[in-house]
Amino acid sequence: MWKETILYPSTALITGKRGSGKSALGYWLLEYLSNEYNLVASVFGLPDEKKHLLPDSIIHLDDLDNLPEESVILFDEAHLKFYSRRFKDDSNEIMDQLITISRQKSQILIFAIHESRKLDKNVVSSVDAVILKEPGLFQREFERRELRNITDKALNAFEDYEKKDRKRYAYVYSSEFIGMLKNTVPSFWSEELSRAFAGIPLRKEKETKPTWRDMIGVVESPEPLTLDQIVVDRFEPKKTVIPLNNTQIEREIDAIRSAYGNKSDDFIVKMVCEVFNRSEDDILNMMNTEYT
Ligand SMILES: Nc1ncnc2c1ncn2[C@@H]1O[C@H](COP(=O)(O)OP(=O)(O)OP(=O)(O)O)[C@@H](O)[C@H]1O
Ligand SMILES: [Mg+2]
Repeated sequence: MWKETILYPSTALITGKRGSGKSALGYWLLEYLSNEYNLVASVFGLPDEKKHLLPDSIIHLDDLDNLPEESVILFDEAHLKFYSRRFKDDSNEIMDQLITISRQKSQILIFAIHESRKLDKNVVSSVDAVILKEPGLFQREFERRELRNITDKALNAFEDYEKKDRKRYAYVYSSEFIGMLKNTVPSFWSEELSRAFAGIPLRKEKETKPTWRDMIGVVESPEPLTLDQIVVDRFEPKKTVIPLNNTQIEREIDAIRSAYGNKSDDFIVKMVCEVFNRSEDDILNMMNTEYT
């Protein structure tokens, strides 16, 4: 069914909450479609340290001007961000240009994007397929208008599946097919690939520092969110899977501080201690160090 849904050439956007299986689906499609259509499989912008995680048959790309023709190419959000941080370009602009020329170059482009609300309208409307892994709690509310309808349908569709099974499904919206499709992880999948950017320092730039709102995908929240909501949406799925290291916790503290700008440090320390299960001393130390 996937082959009838993602034609050659075409473009697809995968979105969904954190940890919902966007990257796994992206890599699975890369493997599956390159076999089905006999195309070169490539991935854009994977950090050097992580390249050994992929089989030799997958080509690594670092130059947007020379993307191979007759190929299926995966862009995982983080990779694109990494790139745009270095080149100070806007990822919307990059995506728009890539989509425009992809047909002539006989490419299938797959974008796996968490922060779909940040996508330009023309990027959303020019992809051939929108694929939703399980949407986040707030995704529907704050999703851009173009995707809200689809997000509603996806939320409904996911209701029919048990929570533990939801990573295996995706709600697909395209001119060829609308509905749920199943996917596995690719043959070469590893948890390390799932966290390809863990431990890779991004250049410190004030204006691109992620805020807590960025991380859970909220533009404007009418009510201040409670600690419970943050924990559910952001931390709980990861808590059991990835113990965060100090640098990661420092980033989370920054985000929580900017979200709770009106609260005292005392409040924030208590909240962070609880969320990360660390001592107050640990957290205070981290609050005094800027992450790099
Ligand atoms: N189809 C699937 N079947 C079983 N487990 C899956 C499937 N897809 C993903 N997973 C598991 O779910 C977890 C998250 O997957 P993945 O890294 O693809 O999510 P993500 O949406 O890309 O996360 P992030 O938002 O952090 O980038 C991983 O542990 C992965 O092994
Ligand atoms: Mg991912």
